[in-house]
Amino acid sequence: MPTPTPAAPGSLPFLGHAHRLARDPLPFITSLRRHGDVVRIRIGPTPAYVVTDPALTRRVLVTDAARFAKGGKIIDALSVFFGDGLATVADGDTHLRNRRLMQPMFNKAHIATRGSAMIDQVRTMVGSWREGEHRDVCADMNDITLAAFLVALFGTDLPAHLRAEFTSLMPAIMKGTIRRTILPSWINRLPLPANRAHAERVAQLRALIDQAIDHRGRQEPDRASGTVDAPDRPAGCPHVAGAQDEAGLFTTLLTAEAGLSRRQLQDEAITLLTGAIETTGTTLAWTLYELTRHPEIERRLRAELAAVCGDRPLRQEDLDRLPYARQVLREAVRKYGPAWMVTRTAICDIDLGGHRIPRGADVVWSPYLHQHDPEYFPEPSTFDPDRWGPDRVQATRGSFYAFGDGRRKCIGESFAWIELQIILATVLQRWPNFRLASRPPRPQAVVTVKPDVMTMTYRSIVSSPES
Ligand code: HEM
Repeated sequence: MPTPTPAAPGSLPFLGHAHRLARDPLPFITSLRRHGDVVRIRIGPTPAYVVTDPALTRRVLVTDAARFAKGGKIIDALSVFFGDGLATVADGDTHLRNRRLMQPMFNKAHIATRGSAMIDQVRTMVGSWREGEHRDVCADMNDITLAAFLVALFGTDLPAHLRAEFTSLMPAIMKGTIRRTILPSWINRLPLPANRAHAERVAQLRALIDQAIDHRGRQEPDRASGTVDAPDRPAGCPHVAGAQDEAGLFTTLLTAEAGLSRRQLQDEAITLLTGAIETTGTTLAWTLYELTRHPEIERRLRAELAAVCGDRPLRQEDLDRLPYARQVLREAVRKYGPAWMVTRTAICDIDLGGHRIPRGADVVWSPYLHQHDPEYFPEPSTFDPDRWGPDRVQATRGSFYAFGDGRRKCIGESFAWIELQIILATVLQRWPNFRLASRPPRPQAVVTVKPDVMTMTYRSIVSSPES
């Protein structure tokens, strides 16, 4: 006999739990654990099943993944603009083929070939901030993440005007995209000025991506057209032989034998750009905020960095020698999500831990919820990088789903860790002193968990603890 699935309290007629998800989503989603390992909620008229036990989430993502298809309202809203990009394309042959094609772009050794170019880019941007000025941390972190990602993706010789256009377009694209995932789909289809403006911006982004691809094609016409193969390089990795210093990871896709059409290349580039920026940028903003609250953690980080680099700038090969920096970043990812609600659709009636999930139902899993489970993370709202130290890490096993798991696991995880480490280390090296200038931020759950406000000042002089 299936277990009756508990319903979350507080459902209202017509709205269901939509008011809780809109008003206090993070306390609401974490509170569900108290009611059972699978809990039924309603979003308007639609029921959804929230999985609160990490072992059952593993079943949804890995063991029984074939019965829980990628889908749901958020994915539907995104796919209108991202087309068949890797994050939104349905499970099946196209996903499998494109994933295999793109996997080599994001393996650690391949990304390392872009490390120095990313470090140079980040150092230039962080060095351009003026002493003592009030800076919007999220905007800065998103801009730096985007610039480093563009260098990695399209190479160091992407013309400055293209880079500038990407930088001015992406914040509005991200905002418009997020808005679309929140509003009902029929509103998104109306010919409203905001909808038309968003569609135009996405068209501009596609045109920009085209220009970036054409630019690469002009630099290496034979390889970009896919007509000449380079016998000295392993398949799928145009950088390994040491040449092509100015090329980017995207060259892997441009030169793939079973090539993608222009439209598919655009879809993949849009998907990567939107997947890479806000997740990483938000994590960095929260990390800097936690450092302003925990001087002892900042001191340890700076000591580790000084022991590895001394007075010289960071190098790619230093990253593996900064384990405490990795622990601090992992703890920021844990505490702040950054994803808090991800969906799947049951493709048949299925038993999940004794609960009957009907065919077609939305199944919700939440990295944020699992990462705040006190069974695995005692005192979950405490920022404690030592949870990830060698003596305690074992206790967290099986509960950290920040990057998902299984066949739809984040393809950019290795890239994200490298980029996070580069940016954090570079800010610390350039600015011995930074302070929060705004009131303490409150977490806002949109697609990621973002700070509602966060301004900081950066100074070259180390101030005394009293000042
Ligand atoms: C802190 C940084 C990041 C976090 C926490 C994160 C989180 C996630 C999660 C949870 C998923 C799985 C969604 C699902 O199961 O439905 C995912 C998928 C994905 N992510 Fe990330 N991500 C991050 C950075 C990146 C970066 C840097 C890139 C690009 C280089 C990227 C590209 C993607 C793509 C393309 C997918 C779809 C993979 C597929 O379905 O095969 N992400 N990410």
